[in-house]
Amino acid sequence: MSAPLVHVRDLEVRFVTRDATVHAVNGVSFDLAERESLCILGESGSGKSVTLRALMGLNPPRRTKLSGTVRVGGHDILAASERRLADIRGGTVSMIFQEPMTALDPVFTIGRQIAETVMRHEGLSRASADARALELLELVQIPSAKRRLAAYPHELSGGLRQRAMIAIALSCRPKLLLADEPTTALDATVQIQILLLLRRLQQEMGMGVIFVTHDLGVAGEIADRVAVMYAGKFIEEGPVRSLMRAPLHPYAQGLLGATVHSGMRGERLTTIPGAPPNLERVPKGCAFAPRCALVEEACLPAVPTFRSPFPGHAARCVRVRDAA
Ligand SMILES: Nc1ncnc2c1ncn2[C@@H]1O[C@H](COP(=O)(O)OP(=O)(O)OP(=O)(O)O)[C@@H](O)[C@H]1O
Ligand SMILES: [Mg+2]
Repeated sequence: MSAPLVHVRDLEVRFVTRDATVHAVNGVSFDLAERESLCILGESGSGKSVTLRALMGLNPPRRTKLSGTVRVGGHDILAASERRLADIRGGTVSMIFQEPMTALDPVFTIGRQIAETVMRHEGLSRASADARALELLELVQIPSAKRRLAAYPHELSGGLRQRAMIAIALSCRPKLLLADEPTTALDATVQIQILLLLRRLQQEMGMGVIFVTHDLGVAGEIADRVAVMYAGKFIEEGPVRSLMRAPLHPYAQGLLGATVHSGMRGERLTTIPGAPPNLERVPKGCAFAPRCALVEEACLPAVPTFRSPFPGHAARCVRVRDAA
């Protein structure tokens, strides 16, 4: 069996500030196969973005304490130098963000930005880089692509900017694409178009994808597997159908709530009463216990281990039983 595209073990990410340490990611482990897509779901502040950024070595270096193992396409991300990371980003893994303006440079044309990226990473000549830029704009279905090469980011609509950012992210044919709520800033029809585009590109280019969304319909349409994150931990992971149809963890059940049915497009995650724990202290037992209607003694002394009643589907909850 070949090595997985992504291999994460016991990932911990802490932010050390003068007054406190924020335990943002607390022991995340997972693998992603080539061409596989994983969706991470969870409330605001659960550590989704920090996890994605750790896969690219993107958290602010001085204040961030990282531990565990992160391998992407065979590269040891936590041990890599900044210079090495710069090669890995774009070449092996790239990321698209919720707000394209954070990734696009306002002072250069779209064509120039794509061309620069491929020249830097692939050593193409200016002429071949320009040709590649056009190809990429056509790939992401930007109408009148040739004319759009000369456009500045502010001259494009939100949807086109998002497509341009995807074009840049894909420009060096990454093996892994990270997408952090890539469509929430867009209106519903444009969202669907972008997502269908992403799914098609994933299949055509054979990329692995890890994405974060608050939209269950989106998760259902793109993901092979879903991980549910709470207080910096994966608390449930499973195949998309099984997890959406029958979530195991009370938190996942609450989050997916009444919205788990077909035709979920546009359905947002349900809000659960109460607030997530303060990440300045990691709770000893199940972090969801204080909000859980089903809490019992056994939840408190230690974080429950993963239990797996069905192949590939597991949750950290004492109420879940392993398959016999
Ligand atoms: N640079 C940083 N310094 C200090 N704390 C941080 C930093 N970045 C993130 N955090 C904290 O880490 C925790 C996890 O943040 P993260 O951005 O991963 O949440 P998220 O799950 O992506 O939430 P959302 O759904 O709102 O995007 C939060 O408590 C956040 O305040
Ligand atoms: Mg986030």
